[in-house]
Amino acid sequence: MKTYSLVICGGGSTYTPDLMELLCYAKKDFPLKKIVLYDIDAERQEPIGQYGEVLFREYYEGVEFYYTTDKEKAFRDMDFAFVQIRAGGLTARNMDEKIPYRYGCIGQETCGAGGLSYGIRSVTQMIQLVKDIREYAPEAWIINYSNPAAIVAEAVKRMFPGDRKLINICDMPTQIMDSYLPLVGKKRYEVEPRYFGLNHYGWFTGLIDKKTGENLLPEILRICRETPDKVRRMLADMYDTDGHWGKTFQEHLNMVLDYPYSLPSTYCLYYLYPDQCYSHYNESFTRYDEVMEGRGSKVQAYCTAIAKLGKMKGTEYDISAHINGAAGNIAEASSSTIAYNDVHAAYLIELAISIIHNRNDICLVMVENKGLVPNLDPGMMLEAACRIGQQGVEPIQIGEAPAFEKGLLENQYACEKLLADAVFEHDYQKLLQAFTVNRIICDTNRAKKLIADFVKANGDMWVDFRRQ
Ligand code: NAD
Ligand code: G6P
Ligand code: MN
Repeated sequence: MKTYSLVICGGGSTYTPDLMELLCYAKKDFPLKKIVLYDIDAERQEPIGQYGEVLFREYYEGVEFYYTTDKEKAFRDMDFAFVQIRAGGLTARNMDEKIPYRYGCIGQETCGAGGLSYGIRSVTQMIQLVKDIREYAPEAWIINYSNPAAIVAEAVKRMFPGDRKLINICDMPTQIMDSYLPLVGKKRYEVEPRYFGLNHYGWFTGLIDKKTGENLLPEILRICRETPDKVRRMLADMYDTDGHWGKTFQEHLNMVLDYPYSLPSTYCLYYLYPDQCYSHYNESFTRYDEVMEGRGSKVQAYCTAIAKLGKMKGTEYDISAHINGAAGNIAEASSSTIAYNDVHAAYLIELAISIIHNRNDICLVMVENKGLVPNLDPGMMLEAACRIGQQGVEPIQIGEAPAFEKGLLENQYACEKLLADAVFEHDYQKLLQAFTVNRIICDTNRAKKLIADFVKANGDMWVDFRRQ
């Protein structure tokens, strides 16, 4: 049996422990001989690496595991690189989210001014990382989650044209499928999605039952329209309505009821209901603070506790029952034990499995439009349904975008394209245009103030924008 080598870039990520756990569940379909964590921050990666040593020693027989900050040790001869880096770390996420509130705008990780600030850092670091991986592992499949994924996808498309083994993804559509499919008694593995848009700005147009070929989306929408309270309760049972995602899914349902012909990304809320989203947080408390209190500290505590014990089997951390229940099959794996964000990890692993077994499963990834939606820019990096196999990504034709979605997408693509241009050309004028055209910013004077503050806050993590 062929076995594979995998490097996880951003080894210190809050998502890494769950991902490592799910790798243990998926070993039948995704058999690994080597797992490596790579990060530029040794201190942040240390507890997660120590946890990995215990986990794999006890639950993944024969696998070689280590963690490193050395690029060559990390990348040489890898078959897969899963990438989840955060350029500037969580400290930078904090400022991305806080600064916009000074000027009456939503502060968000990937949308609006915060997303643009993050995009500039991320583009530079992702391009360097892909170059480094390609130097030591020219044939590796690079599957990237790093945000803001739409802007990263636009930039790497230009820098690495035709690299069929470089794939940008997002877990949000997967999460939305898991949230609404129970209404028709289906699991994600039983349907094929149809979706179009930019990342964090897209819409499901179909959920096709693999057995019957029936599109289940109209029935899901009918249930939402006719029994909204039932759907509201189901979503509340899945996501605690006191928390960020619980509130988000309640508002998501309201959005579905306002536009009851498709299932949008939850991130459309930021563009279509900016006033409501603005009221959720303020300059002293944003989603960053919740993440630090929640997932951020939970993951660190979990890993540190296991590293201290030096074992999991026979302790309260024993996951033998889970592993036996999954029987090596990711679709059977019960939820991960750490941060419960298992969709994130499961989706990465599902893509890798579809590639190595050439299953050609239909997954949602980012791909160049090239006529998939003929009335949108052919260069737009669409998030869309594609077959995924040994040959890479083969998109499925979509058709014309309706006027509303077309208008929104053209506006946002102008923003993302201008931002990538600005970074590549170090052009202040285009930077100002990117900020101003963004639906969440809108005003030139506000854009100028935001840029001035972000220039200071980002320092040399931003390129130097020349005024022409
Ligand atoms: P995090 O800050 O906890 O982890 C990111 C890690 O990346 C840190 O340990 C950091 O030191 C490391 N890092 C930063 N720059 C690096 C570089 N140039 N090379 C190697 N390592 C580097 O962040 P997190 O909350 O766990 O999120 C990780 C990333 O995954 C973020 O970009 C986040 O937006 C993204 N994400 C994307 C999706 C999606 O749907 N696309 C879903 C979840 C998370
Ligand atoms: C979803 C999105 C990601 C985003 C994450 C943020 O998974 O698809 O792109 O990074 O949420 O979640 P957080 O819990 O960190 O705010
Ligand atoms: Mn995402």
